[in-house]
Amino acid sequence: MNKNVLVIGGAGYIGSHTVLALQEAGFSPVVYDNFSSGHRDAVFSEYVVEGELADRARLAQAMRDHRIGSVVHFAALIEAGQSVIEPLLFYRNNVASTVSLLEAMQDAGVTRLVFSSTAAVYGNQTEAELLHEDLPVQPINPYGQTKAAVEAMLRDTAAASGLKSIALRYFNASGADARARTGERHDPETHLIPLVLQTAAGEREQITVFGTDYPTEDGSCIRDYIHVSDLARGHVAALEKLLATNEDAGSFTPINLGTGQGYSVRAVIETAKRVTNRSFTVVESDRRPGDPATLVSDPSRAHALLGWRAEHSALDTIITDAWNFMNRGMS
Ligand SMILES: NC(=O)c1ccc[n+]([C@@H]2O[C@H](COP(=O)([O-])OP(=O)(O)OC[C@H]3O[C@@H](n4cnc5c(N)ncnc54)[C@H](O)[C@@H]3O)[C@@H](O)[C@H]2O)c1
Repeated sequence: MNKNVLVIGGAGYIGSHTVLALQEAGFSPVVYDNFSSGHRDAVFSEYVVEGELADRARLAQAMRDHRIGSVVHFAALIEAGQSVIEPLLFYRNNVASTVSLLEAMQDAGVTRLVFSSTAAVYGNQTEAELLHEDLPVQPINPYGQTKAAVEAMLRDTAAASGLKSIALRYFNASGADARARTGERHDPETHLIPLVLQTAAGEREQITVFGTDYPTEDGSCIRDYIHVSDLARGHVAALEKLLATNEDAGSFTPINLGTGQGYSVRAVIETAKRVTNRSFTVVESDRRPGDPATLVSDPSRAHALLGWRAEHSALDTIITDAWNFMNRGMS
């Protein structure tokens, strides 16, 4: 089995944790990143190539130079709100550039790909309690549309060539490496748990609960928080699955990575107060447009096909690890 993996976007939040998990599983990751949002001190691989996702020739050369057998593709713009304002930027970076990647893989004869997709492809589903992969893909913002477009591209390319790919649809990535080697550092930060912890640390004045009249137990939104190290393990399992087959035919499989268990915004805030032992100001506000009441995964396909399940995603663990990462080097 060729264990040399090109990790595109490997200097980012989920990518850097995945590089660590790949190394622990005996893979040899090579990071490829333009450092637009990634961090140089979050590169853990022996080799790193600085480059653009759109640069077909550079990608193909990197694959040949490092005798790459598979690719994991994290590189994307990720902020849904910004995608509404600048959709073309998102289509260029997330969709058009991924065409270059698939062409480069064909140039270099690499046929296995794990792609970072998202629960955002499901949009607002009214029928299903748990989101499963056979539900219609109907994103409600340009960010989700770009991920759905790449999924369609992977499905079409699989039918026409030998490309074997898995799209991992992450739910709410959160937490940090238990040894605080890497963690979440988005700028701007829009994710709930780091925002709550920044409030606990006194870096923000208050945390806002958007919507307190949802049809949920405490009225706030419910989400499925998945520890980033569990996500990282999911990529290892997906790669092992793709590399285990010797068939020539292409394939495309979307797989949820989530816990199947939801927590409300209020529960996250209460857990953060307890874990950090800090009190802080919580403000209630109206719902934000486009926020569904509940987004929780059905993770059964990942259990069945990958033998993967969340192991570190208890809310306490997620918040403890994220807090320790924020306070690294302070004790
Ligand atoms: N964080 C989440 O909760 C979440 C949830 C669902 C899906 N995702 C997806 O997971 C992936 C990784 O997310 P993240 O939170 O780690 O984001 P991130 O911004 O921390 O990481 C993205 C990495 O890709 C690199 N990159 C971006 N555009 C590039 C380009 N054109 N060429 C080369 N490198 C480029 C960045 O420098 C960065 O290192 C994204 O595709 C995102 O859409 C994230």
